[in-house]
Amino acid sequence: MFYNIIIILCVKILNYIIFNIMSEYSDSLPKYEILSEETTNFDFNYKIILIGDSNVGKSCLTVRATKNTFLNFYTPTVGFEFFNLIINIKGKNIKLQIWDTCGQEKFRSLINNFYHKASLAIIVYSIDNEKSFEHIEHWLNEIKSNTIPDIKIFLIGNKMDLVDLRKIKTEKAKRFCEERGLDYFIETSAKNGENVINTFAYAANLLLEESLKYQKINKDKVKINENINNKKTDNCLSFDYVEDEPRNIILDNNSTKEKKKKCCK
Ligand code: GTP
Repeated sequence: MFYNIIIILCVKILNYIIFNIMSEYSDSLPKYEILSEETTNFDFNYKIILIGDSNVGKSCLTVRATKNTFLNFYTPTVGFEFFNLIINIKGKNIKLQIWDTCGQEKFRSLINNFYHKASLAIIVYSIDNEKSFEHIEHWLNEIKSNTIPDIKIFLIGNKMDLVDLRKIKTEKAKRFCEERGLDYFIETSAKNGENVINTFAYAANLLLEESLKYQKINKDKVKINENINNKKTDNCLSFDYVEDEPRNIILDNNSTKEKKKKCCK
């Protein structure tokens, strides 16, 4: 008995150490910090939408991520609602606006602008519900018809705590994700919180990387253009010839400031 307790303790400590080393050095998920809801200075602001069948746990995932609580009862979402999650990654403050919508068809006509300017869509199914997995195709079509082509798409298998009721094997969902070229797949439990916040941190990091890449490309374009035109610029960046911003950047304080400086005609 005593030795069992020692072994369990050792395994837990080892897990804890490995997890911390992984989160510190892993490229895919760098260290992050959840900031208070009152934080007002953001470097980037992204809209994330959650879609999927009714009852799969979209609202619970949203509430777990933003309030760290669990709703043990079912109240169908009517229309949509959104909550903010503010994360600091790589020194940048990122505001995720997480939009939760109703899975029930009868409410869907209430949705206006739900998809508008979404950077990332999360399709949620429930691991104990085959129909919700079969309907992923339908939700992919919805995304395709209503959003920008380069939107990021995640797939979440929720309710992973319902071990005995599982109908959808992890491997099957992983395969589906690879075949369809989705950006990320993970199983979560809104009930016990497993993988929930990490998934949103992963999303924030992915979107941040995209934005930084985009900013760099634009800065390089500006430099090339300056050289070609040999124009006097007074240290002021002109964005006249920069293509439209991708819609995955809703608000970027820095680039907004730079845009306002259109002083170099
Ligand atoms: P609609 O608003 O109709 O689209 O449903 P929804 O997808 O938002 O589902 P909701 O979050 O309301 O959750 C539905 C039911 O599943 C509730 O009774 C939750 O308590 C339960 N539930 C949600 N997430 C989990 C989970 O991770 N594990 C378990 N065991 N139950 C969950």
